[in-house]
Amino acid sequence: MSSKITPSRRTENVTYAVRDIVVLAQKTKETGKELLWLNIGDPLKYDFETPAHMVEAVSKAMQDGHNGYSPSSGIDEAITAIRNEAEKQGIKNIRDVLITNGGSEAIEIALTSLLNPGDNILTPNPGYPLYEAIVNKLEAKENQYELDEENDWQPNISDIESKINDKTKGIVIINPNNPTGSVCHKDTLLQLIELARKHNLVIFSDEIYDKLVFDGKKYVSIASLADDICFVTLNGLSKSYLVPGWRLGWAIISGPEEICNDYVEAYNKFTRARLCSNHPMQFAIKPALEGPQDHIEEAIKKLERRRDICMEILNSIDGINCVSPEGAFYAFPRLERDLDDKKWVEGLISETGVVTVHGSGFGQKPGTHHFRIVLLPDEQTLERACLNIKEYMKKL
Ligand SMILES: Cc1ncc(COP(=O)(O)O)c(C=O)c1O
Repeated sequence: MSSKITPSRRTENVTYAVRDIVVLAQKTKETGKELLWLNIGDPLKYDFETPAHMVEAVSKAMQDGHNGYSPSSGIDEAITAIRNEAEKQGIKNIRDVLITNGGSEAIEIALTSLLNPGDNILTPNPGYPLYEAIVNKLEAKENQYELDEENDWQPNISDIESKINDKTKGIVIINPNNPTGSVCHKDTLLQLIELARKHNLVIFSDEIYDKLVFDGKKYVSIASLADDICFVTLNGLSKSYLVPGWRLGWAIISGPEEICNDYVEAYNKFTRARLCSNHPMQFAIKPALEGPQDHIEEAIKKLERRRDICMEILNSIDGINCVSPEGAFYAFPRLERDLDDKKWVEGLISETGVVTVHGSGFGQKPGTHHFRIVLLPDEQTLERACLNIKEYMKKL
């Protein structure tokens, strides 16, 4: 008999809390309990619909026979649409635009093209767990910096500066942030640029939620604020354009030619090696970016109302405090008692059917405990879920 296969050490620490919690939720469902899903960042699981003109563009592309491989960095019309939009946002010195299978692949190639084993990269804590998984895979180190809950979850600049060393190659910002829903202030972005300039860091800006900013605030892309350092702006259609299953993302590399060009070539090597991203889906990019944007306005209105309902109830609960989200579709309430957040989340599911994700799945300041909810369910569901949380807290 052949012997048992030993998986690589790289896989040992890979977890993805959002999906791990589903296993427990399914078990609870089997007991007949009704579940209220507040755990997954997929708008299509709730009352949001893909704009019809994008579906038509993709079906037409398939019928027109665009079913073979595309050029590795993507089809021309989509690259031009992305570049035009980035220029309108004020991003200068664009060196390359590369279309990928979701923002996830853009992130993976971006980090793989920069980090050697032993290097480190500054990542936000709390933040999106994919970064940790990729950095571990590359045998590099995540160098986590604090998002300051007392300051609207802004990146803590002095914490970042104190953590930079000679192996630090870059800094990741997630703006708007998952899981906190915070949006970086312009003065924070300018301070981050100053640090990158001083320490020769590449800035990776994950802007997958950039169109979902609340209360009429204007979004500022960090790459639009300087033209003398290298930026990798990561984005895609998954969230704002309601097609997470189409796996359409991209990276925009910008900055001075002499600084960026070797990195651009490295990025291209990987995009060529994996052939291309989904070809027919790429035909949705131009119509999405240049066509009607009504669905975004509608989504923002819904999310603002849903946020307000959640904030009102959650912040009325003894033992919970939540910074109000300014964008994306998440909130990250703090448990003000010394409770293990994973056990709290598990108890919440089995007792009330409300499915959230434990804060430790995203990282949190030692000694603090949080949970993440999504603002995507309808108002009644969110209200019921938050009231269930209130009852659950009363009993603890
Ligand atoms: C901050 C952040 N970046 C990237 C992604 C991945 O996006 P995509 O579905 O385009 O791969 C997500 C998905 O939840 C996310 O929250």
